[in-house]
Amino acid sequence: MNNSKNKTWSIVLSMGLVLGLIGVSGLVLSDDDDEYEGNGRWRQSRLDVAPVNNAFYKEECGSCHFPYQPGLLPARSWQKLMGGLEDHFSENAELDAADARQLTAYLTANAADTSNYKRSRGISRSLAKDDVPLRISTTRYFKRKHHELSARMVKNNPEVRSFSNCQLCHTRAAQGAYNEHQVKVPGYAGWDD
Ligand code: HEC
Ligand code: HEC
Repeated sequence: MNNSKNKTWSIVLSMGLVLGLIGVSGLVLSDDDDEYEGNGRWRQSRLDVAPVNNAFYKEECGSCHFPYQPGLLPARSWQKLMGGLEDHFSENAELDAADARQLTAYLTANAADTSNYKRSRGISRSLAKDDVPLRISTTRYFKRKHHELSARMVKNNPEVRSFSNCQLCHTRAAQGAYNEHQVKVPGYAGWDD
């Protein structure tokens, strides 16, 4: 065992303890050491958005696609989206009124504009107050983060097809981790080579 590895582990473990104390669940410890952000700063949290902690949401809104974390869109977007489920991106995703109400409450209570997680704040800040995007992938923040990806890597990539498939490239998306070191574009060994 070399020293730096032990050091990394002890930092990872103490961060895990701190996060545990502030009530963040679903933290998975791993031995990749990308907490260091440079300039003497260490990443506060390995998670970019709060993970989904609602089984009903995962089941209902994760049956056709990845269950997007509520912290990826502001409350006004979730309200609009939940109000139009019968025509949801050309699909019918309608729910009965009580279920829709319950999920809307979950989404809005944990929305980007009420969350302190890094990406939630970034997404919120990138939007004008009267902007009500129905997609995460059309927000200014998202576009800025993905502008280097070509159509060949996404739309025309038979293994991806759409930016909506976060989990295909972000290997730890389900845990709420979207960090650029945990990305792999299917079919591309090193997307930024
Ligand atoms: C019947 C299938 C189906 C169900 C159920 C469904 N969706 Fe979707 N959803 C879609 C399709 C299709 C798209 C468009 C995907 C694409 O463009 O590749 C989409 C896209 C989205 C997007 C935009 C993703 C982006 O590009 O940023 C959000 C947000 C979303 N859905 C939220 C929800 C929520 C919340 C629920 C649960 C209430 C839900 N969906 C249930 C089919 C569904
Ligand atoms: C085709 C693969 C692909 C898909 C699909 C994709 N991403 Fe990404 N994403 C990337 C890559 C590659 C980067 C790193 C870009 C860079 O560093 O220039 C990235 C960066 C990010 C970042 C910034 C990370 C950082 O460290 O700055 C966030 C946040 C993010 N993606 C969220 C999402 C979300 C949410 C979705 C789904 C709605 C998604 N991505 C879909 C490939 C993808």
